[in-house]
Amino acid sequence: MYYPDEVIEEVRSRNDIVDVVSAYVKLKRSGGNLFGLCPFHSEKSPSFSVSPSKQIYYCFGCGAGGNVISFIMQYENCSFQEALKTLADRAGVALPEQETDQAARQEQSLRSRILEVNKMAAAFYYYQLRSKAGAQGLEYLKGRALSDETIHGFGLGYAGKYSDQLYQYLRGKGVDDQLLRESGLMVFDERRGMLDKFWNRVMFPIMDVNSRVIGFGGRVMGDGKPKYLNSPETRVFDKSRNLYGLNFARRSRARVMIVCEGYMDVISMHQAGFINSVASLGTALTSQHASLLKRYTDEVVLSYDSDGAGIRAALRAIPLLKEAGLRAKVLNLSPWKDPDEFIKANGNEAFQERIDAAEGSFFFELRMAQSRYNMADPESKTAFFREIAGRIAGFEQEVERENYIEAVAQQYHVSFDGLRRMVGTELMKGIYTGQGNAAGGGYALSDRSDEDGYVSTPVRKKDLTADEGPRRSQSMLLTWLTEYPQIFPVVKEYVAVQDYSEGFCREAAALLYDQLEQGPPVPARIISHFTDPEDQKKAAALFNTSEPGLGGEELKKAIRETIRKVTAARQKETGLEGGMDMAALKQMIDRKKKLENLGKLEIPL
Ligand code: GTP
Ligand code: MN
Repeated sequence: MYYPDEVIEEVRSRNDIVDVVSAYVKLKRSGGNLFGLCPFHSEKSPSFSVSPSKQIYYCFGCGAGGNVISFIMQYENCSFQEALKTLADRAGVALPEQETDQAARQEQSLRSRILEVNKMAAAFYYYQLRSKAGAQGLEYLKGRALSDETIHGFGLGYAGKYSDQLYQYLRGKGVDDQLLRESGLMVFDERRGMLDKFWNRVMFPIMDVNSRVIGFGGRVMGDGKPKYLNSPETRVFDKSRNLYGLNFARRSRARVMIVCEGYMDVISMHQAGFINSVASLGTALTSQHASLLKRYTDEVVLSYDSDGAGIRAALRAIPLLKEAGLRAKVLNLSPWKDPDEFIKANGNEAFQERIDAAEGSFFFELRMAQSRYNMADPESKTAFFREIAGRIAGFEQEVERENYIEAVAQQYHVSFDGLRRMVGTELMKGIYTGQGNAAGGGYALSDRSDEDGYVSTPVRKKDLTADEGPRRSQSMLLTWLTEYPQIFPVVKEYVAVQDYSEGFCREAAALLYDQLEQGPPVPARIISHFTDPEDQKKAAALFNTSEPGLGGEELKKAIRETIRKVTAARQKETGLEGGMDMAALKQMIDRKKKLENLGKLEIPL
């Protein structure tokens, strides 16, 4: 969905950031800004600032930042469109109807009709559970130590003994057979026609992040088989993109997300206060699940069953989580089978202790790999360490590799230097074969140094092109332009929009220059141009002075120096582009002349 810029700007400007944020965070005025405790990380002294004049927020502690739209996105864990809708409603702005083509509209309407049917079915099961017929179901759930509040909160229900109760109910509500087929709630029998898929089971409605019922799981009340029946995938139910409990867990504000295997695990963990837990829907964790989780957290604790299948599931999940940029840990629940049983036997505190003691995924993987080797046999043992070295060589940064070498040396009682040499060998293999190593990815041995004199550790080849130095200077310049719009005429003489690096910097520059041409800049408006939260954060950081200490002559000197850096870097780039025509040549000479005069340039501060 796409809204025009003017609409976005109208919604943004009609919601004062101070009013909106104040509803969530206690703010105190200090100078031109307001300060409070950051809602996005835990802290004791306030480093979260809101600027009424710029209409943006920024946390000096964790770097969270953006405008009023980003704030809602971040606080409510929702998308740009959802935040816009919330704020439009708040300010009474009517959002224009979205134009969609015929087919898309039909699909949309079919989806919403299926969701509607699911909702009716969930309500039906819910009331069945509380009726006389549902006594057995209720007894079963109570027998599993669920409180009334929990049963209600998860909308649990009951499907009765007859196999057409839901069918009759929904037909009575005017739902047609075609829609019922699409809903996955019915099965078709040649002789008997449409029948309920679920009967004689306790029912778990499965909800998406927005708490819409997308499917069901049903459990037998006892030892029958199959233990669980799940809705088939439908137009609204994609098992690889949804997680059970995420609609609640996304609001938990916990540092980590706990991923477990079963519905019952999630429910009993939520009941015990661990509302940051979710489960996949009877299937293995997918890479889509991992990116979904990444929207809400940076670290995942896998809390799978402590049997062979659980361990294999964890080993498969770890690389997917890492690929999505998540840190992963593995919880050890043995000798108990799963979180539900563990909590029942040992209580919340003991469970929290296990969470705190969760093993980093790397050491978990090593421990599991070790079982394939015979540690009493020197040859096999060496092969095991070679495997470890290969895995360590897979880490991108030298510091990280060194840290792991140290940790492994300590844990496995081997010599640090010996292991380090092995890692070196594995790294070299990666370079010469061009294949990379265990984790994939080639390495460059030469250190990289950029114009800021920043020397980094060896990096992956693909990173060598991304030169961060010039970008940093460009960001500084944009920051100053927002802070001191009066320097714009001077700056633009030297640095044009095209001189900013392609991507985020140039986009931000184009927007800011455009505003500066017309008057004082409106940083908050620039932020809402970016719909990606990472970009919004970058934009917010841009509009917060990074060096508050600088002033007077010092500041002028810094600005001059930064202009020089940006221009010089651009000069070098154009020079390299080659195939220059007369105009480009002239521009280059002009620039060179200007650079020579830069020292005398008067900065109007
Ligand atoms: P309880 O035995 O009720 O505690 O269930 P659990 O949550 O511990 O389930 P378990 O660990 O046995 O299985 C984990 C998940 O796998 C369940 O939540 C279901 O989604 C799925 N599952 C388990 N058994 C079956 C089955 O027989 N059929 C299908 N389709 N899915 C199952
Ligand atoms: Mn269980």
